Amino acid sequence: MAHGEHFQVTKGTIPSDAEKKHLYEAAELALSGLLADETDPIVIMTTIVAALHQTMPHYFWTGFYRVVGDELVVGPYQGTPACLRIAKGRGVCGTAWTENNIIRVDDVHSFPGHIACDARSASEIVVPWHDRTGHVLAVFDVDSSLLSAFTEVDESLLSALAANFPLG
Ligand code: SME
Repeated sequence: MAHGEHFQVTKGTIPSDAEKKHLYEAAELALSGLLADETDPIVIMTTIVAALHQTMPHYFWTGFYRVVGDELVVGPYQGTPACLRIAKGRGVCGTAWTENNIIRVDDVHSFPGHIACDARSASEIVVPWHDRTGHVLAVFDVDSSLLSAFTEVDESLLSALAANFPLG
């Protein structure tokens, strides 16, 4: 059995890019089975969070913030209790939403306006998540307790997941 496929991983290590590719492929395969024909956005979000959080050793906090009016409101997540609402354009999440771009931060303390929900967060990646017509309905936010935990592999494979599992 490959690392991380069917058991609780030990948090706090950064896999190599090759290991990450394997882990994302395993998660994507599991999600394809679990989410086949699923259309409920809560089911989709919560299953993505559960699958990735369980699989990825470098994920410390994993969750969605949903676009509700003029702000982001927390959705399904795993990790310590989070900030509930984020104003448009604020923090890494609000910036990724307004710019409709993936943002990767190697050291959150160097990101102006970063919102610290848990002091242990050190690096972060935020991925806008769309519906089939391309509207941003949410952002997927992952914090790591380790610096520079996210690479281009996380960016490209999360971007592929977002394309494969739209929220409606
Ligand atoms: N750090 C994020 C806020 C959300 S928490 O990390 C869960 C930000 O700056 O937008």
